[in-house]
Amino acid sequence: MNQLTTFKILATFCVCISFICTLPSSYKTLKDIIINRCNDFQKKYTNDHELALKKRINCNTLWNTFLNSFSGKDICQIKSYDELFKSIKLKPIKNKALFWSGTNYIAHNFTEIKKNFYTLEDTFPGYIANNWNWCVLLEIDNKKCKKNCGYKSNGEPYWKKASETFAASAEGTAYVMLNGNNPKKAVDPTSIFAQVEIPVLKKKSNIEQLVFFVVNDQNTKAQENCSKGSLKNLMINLKKEKKKTECYDNPKKSDILNATVSLICKLKPTAYDCTSNQYH
Ligand SMILES: NC(=O)c1ccc[n+]([C@@H]2O[C@H](COP(=O)([O-])OP(=O)(O)OC[C@H]3O[C@@H](n4cnc5c(N)ncnc54)[C@H](O)[C@@H]3O)[C@@H](O)[C@H]2O)c1
Repeated sequence: MNQLTTFKILATFCVCISFICTLPSSYKTLKDIIINRCNDFQKKYTNDHELALKKRINCNTLWNTFLNSFSGKDICQIKSYDELFKSIKLKPIKNKALFWSGTNYIAHNFTEIKKNFYTLEDTFPGYIANNWNWCVLLEIDNKKCKKNCGYKSNGEPYWKKASETFAASAEGTAYVMLNGNNPKKAVDPTSIFAQVEIPVLKKKSNIEQLVFFVVNDQNTKAQENCSKGSLKNLMINLKKEKKKTECYDNPKKSDILNATVSLICKLKPTAYDCTSNQYH
């Protein structure tokens, strides 16, 4: 064995050891979830379905690429998922993309019934990672979890990249469900919607229109609506970018919103305008 070969073997050994040392003892549950969801998704959506991936993904390779995002890094170091997302190619989602912020529960109950809208969580990257407890799955110790490393350093960068990918795949009219009672703002400047999705949608020439639904709770004073606050400002900015906008905080104006509100009223009878009987 010459010196160069010995050096290569030693170097590989050191890389492996440092990789193993920085990883928790086992990622078995995480691995199972990723591989199972990856296979399930590709069985469910095949060929010409609009949610099917442009190119089939090998789920074991996907898992290894995911794991590489962590290798050699401290759990509290912000991760990059750029490599992982290089292999995930979504088809265009025309007139059906629904973005949400502060309305996780209601938006997903809505799409569950109105099957012709898709949220990020219906697409491959959202489907594989939805509802993860990053601290548990990454086996992060309590002290670091309390520092919010689990989500902020590992989960949030994943969702930012996934949200960017989803926004980049939207075309035509994009829909947005916001929370008028959000104690911050309906368009919270620290949210992924404001920081990641809006900038991508703004730049896309094939995004023609954004339709906003503002969900309110009548027990709490609405902070903002279509003609007041952060949403109004966003619509002014979008118009400057030549995007058409519509905004509904009056349910009677839109069929889509009628459906939304009747569903919201079933789930949450104190929500905006539910007592008017129209939606029961
Ligand atoms: N499915 C998800 O969990 C998820 C998470 C982030 C972003 N997104 C995408 O971005 C948009 C919503 O993001 P947003 O930031 O505007 O809205 P938001 O403020 O409502 O946050 C979205 C979700 O992020 C998760 N989250 C936020 N802070 C967290 C924390 N500290 N610890 C654990 N989980 C936390 C929660 O599941 C929350 O429902 C959607 O359009 C969606 O496409 C989805």
